[in-house]
Amino acid sequence: MTSTAAEQSSRAGQLYARLHDARVRSEELFGIVHPAALYDRPVPERHRIVFYLGHLEAFDWNLLREPLGLSSFDPEFDKLFAFGIDPVEGGLPADQPADWPSVERVREYNQRLREQLNAAIRGAGAKDPELGRLDLGRLLDVAIEHRLMHSETLCYMLHQLPGNRKLAQHTPPAPSAPAHVQRSITIPEGTVTLGLPRKEGGPFGWDNEFEENRVNVPAFHIDAFNVTNHDFLQFMRDGGYERRDLWTDAGWSWISSQKHHAPSFWVPEGDSWSYRAMFAEIPLPFDWPVYVSHDEASAYARWIGKELPSEAEWHRATLSTPEGTERAYPWGVDAPSSLHGNFNFQRWDPVSVGSYPAGKSAFGVADLVGNGWEWTRTPFEPFPGFKPFSFYSGYSANFFDGKHFVMKGGSPRTAACMLRRSFRNWFQPHYPYVYAKFRCVER
Ligand SMILES: [Fe+2]
Repeated sequence: MTSTAAEQSSRAGQLYARLHDARVRSEELFGIVHPAALYDRPVPERHRIVFYLGHLEAFDWNLLREPLGLSSFDPEFDKLFAFGIDPVEGGLPADQPADWPSVERVREYNQRLREQLNAAIRGAGAKDPELGRLDLGRLLDVAIEHRLMHSETLCYMLHQLPGNRKLAQHTPPAPSAPAHVQRSITIPEGTVTLGLPRKEGGPFGWDNEFEENRVNVPAFHIDAFNVTNHDFLQFMRDGGYERRDLWTDAGWSWISSQKHHAPSFWVPEGDSWSYRAMFAEIPLPFDWPVYVSHDEASAYARWIGKELPSEAEWHRATLSTPEGTERAYPWGVDAPSSLHGNFNFQRWDPVSVGSYPAGKSAFGVADLVGNGWEWTRTPFEPFPGFKPFSFYSGYSANFFDGKHFVMKGGSPRTAACMLRRSFRNWFQPHYPYVYAKFRCVER
């Protein structure tokens, strides 16, 4: 999939190169799965791993086939691998490994459609280097980011696979973390800009990022650092999972029915806990941010007499400055780098809070982007002026149900392109496998 210098300088060439890079990233991830585990289902609510092997390619194929003038050669696979699942009512899939095709057949399908897509994308780029025709540039952005998002969510699934079902990868040494002392930072009243303006030729964003809107945020106080595993242990020792008053009705019903009484990344070890890192169980790292569901984060916040930030408060603490301006990133305008935070596939696990002083916001709040998404108390809803993509109408609209909450920031496995300020992530409040952390606010 090499391209010429002329191709690389065009929008078509850049998107083609990014698609290639995203494919390398997703293949790297399938490469950590032991071959015998490809039909495993590490998370009961999700499909077996083999589905995702076909899905990433079938999605591109179903999205791009007609605009590129291509024809289906396997309609059955196009349909089988079209969509993932996100059951909200507790129903679990019951399919068996034998219900799925062989890995060899899936790989043949993948290779055949990739060859056709590659040739057609390069052909379209040769005719129209800026890809204005049929909105092809935007469709390629969708394909690239869809694949990168799955490269993250698939990682959540693979995290739950037992260690002997994975092939361990190298982990670089963690940056040295200055000792941190939790404190509250006052953010004065101000206005934040959410979303993206809808304009011809503007930057890519998913449907839920439009349109730009401004929100006034009253003054509040926010934790300078994320809540750590050590902090959360104090909540547990105080009976946090047994106190009905700390939980919503739905949250209480979830922890009771699932007998869920500790973060899903923690493993009981006699009277104490160890931690399920990506490739090994390790002693509970006290200074890492605790990864928990929205229900657990909310219960902790109630226990300490605070609450989770709203989406607008997160923006204000992260991207506003005391001078009244707004930034692209917490640290300013520079492109995200390994100096600023733990993101863009640098690592497989979090690091201690406060490890990236260069990534602090103008107000001095640490780790707002990277090292784990940040839960907000804001239900996932459309911005004023929302319009679904005609070619993917359910991407966001299927989740405007009051049962999902906005997350901001990014995790160790979030691609750099999705660290943009307008990007919104969302999950159900009791899905416990997300790389999501939190901090608290009060007024
Ligand atoms: Fe998908």
